[in-house]
Amino acid sequence: MGRTTPSILLLSLILLSATLYLNTVTFGFCNAAPNVGCMDIERKALLKLKQGLTDPSDRLSSWVGVDCCKWRGVGCNKTSGRVDSLNLSNPHRDGLESDDGTLHALGGDISPSLLVLKDLIYLDLSMNNFGGVKLPSFIGSLEKMTYLNLSGASFGGVITPNLGNLSRLVYLDLSNNAIKSDLRWLPSLSSLKFLNLGGAQLTKAAPYWLPIVNMLPSLVELHLPSCRLSILPLTLPQINFTSLSVLDLSANGFNSTLSPWLFNLTELVNLDLSYNNLNGVLPETIGSLTLLKNLDLSENSNIEGQLPRNLGMLCNLQSLKLSFNKVTGEITDFIDSLSGCTNSSIETLDLGYNSLTGHLPNSLGYLTTLRYLILWYNSFQGSIPDSIGNLTSLEQFYLANNKMGGVIPESVGQLSSLVAVDLSENTWNVELDVAYNELSGRVPNSLRFTGSANVDLSTNRFEGPLPLWSSNITTLYLRDNQFSGPIPYNIGDVMPSLSDLDISWNGLSGNIPQSLGNLSLLTTMVISNNYLSGEIPHFWNSISELYIVDMSSNSLSGTIPRSINSLHLLRYLILSNNKLSGEVPLLKNCSDMKSLDLGENMFSGNIPAWIGENMLSLLILRLSSNSFSGSIPSQLCDLLELHILDLSHNNLSGHIPHCVGNMNGFKVSVVSDKDTSYLYQGKLKVVAKGRVQDFDSTLYLVNSLDLSSNNISGEMPTELTTLIKLWTLNLSMNHLTGIIPSRIGNMESIETLDLSINQISGSIPPSMVSLTFLNHLNLSYNNLSGKVPTGNQFNSLVDPSIYEGNAHLCGYPLPDCEDNGETPQVPSGGGEEFEWLGFIISIVIGFILGFWGVCGSLVIKKSWRQAYFHFIDRMKVACTRKFQRPQEI
Ligand SMILES: *[C@@H]1O[C@H](CO)[C@@H](O)[C@H](O)[C@H]1NC(C)=O
Ligand SMILES: *[C@@H]1O[C@H](CO)[C@@H](O)[C@H](O)[C@H]1NC(C)=O
Ligand SMILES: *[C@@H]1O[C@H](CO)[C@@H](O)[C@H](O)[C@H]1NC(C)=O
Ligand SMILES: *[C@@H]1O[C@H](CO)[C@@H](O)[C@H](O)[C@H]1NC(C)=O
Ligand SMILES: *[C@@H]1O[C@H](CO)[C@@H](O)[C@H](O)[C@H]1NC(C)=O
Ligand SMILES: *[C@@H]1O[C@H](CO)[C@@H](O)[C@H](O)[C@H]1NC(C)=O
Ligand SMILES: *[C@@H]1O[C@H](CO)[C@@H](O)[C@H](O)[C@H]1NC(C)=O
Ligand SMILES: *[C@@H]1O[C@H](CO)[C@@H](O)[C@H](O)[C@H]1NC(C)=O
Ligand SMILES: *[C@@H]1O[C@H](CO)[C@@H](O)[C@H](O)[C@H]1NC(C)=O
Repeated sequence: MGRTTPSILLLSLILLSATLYLNTVTFGFCNAAPNVGCMDIERKALLKLKQGLTDPSDRLSSWVGVDCCKWRGVGCNKTSGRVDSLNLSNPHRDGLESDDGTLHALGGDISPSLLVLKDLIYLDLSMNNFGGVKLPSFIGSLEKMTYLNLSGASFGGVITPNLGNLSRLVYLDLSNNAIKSDLRWLPSLSSLKFLNLGGAQLTKAAPYWLPIVNMLPSLVELHLPSCRLSILPLTLPQINFTSLSVLDLSANGFNSTLSPWLFNLTELVNLDLSYNNLNGVLPETIGSLTLLKNLDLSENSNIEGQLPRNLGMLCNLQSLKLSFNKVTGEITDFIDSLSGCTNSSIETLDLGYNSLTGHLPNSLGYLTTLRYLILWYNSFQGSIPDSIGNLTSLEQFYLANNKMGGVIPESVGQLSSLVAVDLSENTWNVELDVAYNELSGRVPNSLRFTGSANVDLSTNRFEGPLPLWSSNITTLYLRDNQFSGPIPYNIGDVMPSLSDLDISWNGLSGNIPQSLGNLSLLTTMVISNNYLSGEIPHFWNSISELYIVDMSSNSLSGTIPRSINSLHLLRYLILSNNKLSGEVPLLKNCSDMKSLDLGENMFSGNIPAWIGENMLSLLILRLSSNSFSGSIPSQLCDLLELHILDLSHNNLSGHIPHCVGNMNGFKVSVVSDKDTSYLYQGKLKVVAKGRVQDFDSTLYLVNSLDLSSNNISGEMPTELTTLIKLWTLNLSMNHLTGIIPSRIGNMESIETLDLSINQISGSIPPSMVSLTFLNHLNLSYNNLSGKVPTGNQFNSLVDPSIYEGNAHLCGYPLPDCEDNGETPQVPSGGGEEFEWLGFIISIVIGFILGFWGVCGSLVIKKSWRQAYFHFIDRMKVACTRKFQRPQEI
């Protein structure tokens, strides 16, 4: 501590003594009497301590000279001159979680010379890095200590039992170390007011931790999060720690009902039981905890029953979190009751992911201190009350996935303009998420967002022109509504911060505005399923960060601009179902491409060989229903991740390349272990709920090769039979000759096999009987002969039309084979042929639709990923604020 002038010293002493008084810790810092230096023996002891420590950033550089009381972090008793406090806490409070923290961490050995400091009452070694060594047992001999903080200092091993000798300890913080204990030493610390053992492994104490802790009559704060306590006793005969005001037992794996004694702790201000497996009903006795400010029962999965009526009478509540449980009942009374509090200061109300019902009453508007209103994933009905505009502090408002209806009130505009007034002093983050409800009408023009905002109004029934907000909106999801008219020409100038844009599935018409090219931060552009026309603009050089481009199912014409090649991060290019034409331009730079879909257009020329040379991560390639000609380039065989290849309905000729057997994506079931984007998608499935689940699982499973409706000739290469994970093989409507490879029975996953309308001859290989997943077989209109195999799936393929048009096939379901060589009778006739073509077409259409499901999920993947990470980030903030819990996140 510096002592440049006496007045500063005096001031700091006054401040210090005030702090010390408040903390009820008695210790002194630097000696005020200039003549009392530190004792030589203590100075030497400290130097010895310094010697043992590693100090990469030279924090102990002031530890030189005679008066050790002036050394940084050292404090002395002003009467005796003896060292009474040692604060070596890492000034970077994030400790080893940041580079800076790591750089400033002390480490090495703690010298027993510390014992020379007999009057030490305060020791803080927190947030350093002692490399997992056991806490030295001599610490237990510093018997005068009242404050010991070793939080986050990377100690390990079993807590030394002679800590129990420190009977004067008032504060003990051993949180965030990799330590273990049975807690048997704890009862002798009878002066303890504050105990934090967060993250310690207390498995051995599980059966009796509560009786032990109950022997500490002065306890005010008890923090035991993530301690593997596993047992929360139902009863406690007599409560000793009646002054307890903070109780954190989160993430302990408790699997029982909420114990009644918890609600006798009438001094409780903070109660955190989140991230356990608690079940049962939240009782009305919660009402006796009238001092409660923070109640967190979230993430227990199984807390059920009605929302207690008394909950709304806890007028001191600042934060109530019940999310991720099964709580039922009406929110209406609860809000009414809470808003009746004269001075409610509630900031966080998180009731998301429960089974609550009712409507949001107008009285919501009295809860003006609300900052986080999180109500998504319940069954709320009615409309958003007008009074929402009174919630001028609201930062996050989640109402997604309910049954809300009606119109968003104009007063929402009030809300955001008031936020703007406060902007100067805060970093506001307005979130409006009302997706997946049945909100309709026009989006109020008065709606204003300030700061970086994420707006999600997807899947409602909004109509009228696409709304624009002039602010720093980063995410704009208006997908699946009834917006009409053109995309505003100035969209790119009005919302320059936009990074994610999804306005798909609306009724938008007109051209793609040039100003989209000004959105230099854009990563997702999803404008599919509208009535957009005209050409694709040439603005791609200026928005080169794009990751997803989906313009499918519009009426776009002209060619693909060459400048798309500048999108070096592009992973999804979906342009299908438009009127695009010409040759595909060289897209060699798009080497991360995962999905290229140009189907249902009028593209011509050869299939570019560079696709196989440059897009080696490609999972899906779809060029169907165009006018591509020439042969299939053998380079496509190098796409080892590809699991959907659709070249159907073109004018392709030549043979099926033999190298098709190299295509590993058709041979392994999981797309790719290294591809983490797929792993994220797996998680997304859980978080995004509802509509996505099917698509996600389909994505892994769909494994399909479709070359139908071309002019392909030659034989089916034997190598095809090595593609053992293929689900669909469609080679129909070509000019294939030769026989069906005899080893076709190896294609164990095949479900749909269509070889119809070719000139394939020979018999149906008997090995096909082992294709037990086969349920769509079509061999009609070939030159096959001999007996249809019997057994397994073949017994259920009873429709004779799948074999028709093969003059020499016989056996069930066709007429029996005649030994006399007579040609079996085959039902035939023009009318039937027509009907049969209809059947083929329906299979093809069915496949396209199925495919679309997959593509749809790919396209909005980024959005989900962002939503997901955003969500996780918030959870993390909530958790790390009190304690790190890596395993929960
Ligand atoms: C300083 O030491 C004296 C004598 O040991 C003791 O009485 C006094 O309480 C100490 N002061 C503080 C602030 O700890
Ligand atoms: C101990 O040191 C840390 C880091 O320098 C500082 O933030 C903290 O305020 C100190 N504690 C006391 C009681 O002075
Ligand atoms: C112990 O130190 C950590 C990190 O420096 C700090 O966050 C915590 O509040 C301290 N504990 C007590 C009881 O002062
Ligand atoms: C501390 O406690 C241990 C037992 O836990 C005891 O053996 C020892 O004598 C005590 N005293 C000191 C100064 O370590
Ligand atoms: C209450 O605390 C005292 C003092 O530590 C202890 O002797 C007593 O056994 C405790 N009572 C219960 C019921 O644990
Ligand atoms: C809790 O309170 C109830 C009702 O006030 C009382 O009957 C019960 O004995 C109390 N339990 C404990 C452990 O203090
Ligand atoms: C929780 O307890 C119930 C009943 O005692 C038991 O059936 C269930 O398996 C337990 N669950 C876990 C995760 O321990
Ligand atoms: C909303 O604010 C207005 C004006 O401050 C006030 O008159 C009204 O009572 C408030 N309504 C609610 C429901 O809070
Ligand atoms: C948008 O962000 C920029 C830079 O971060 C800032 O200067 C500007 O004031 C913001 N505008 C609004 C309307 O929030």
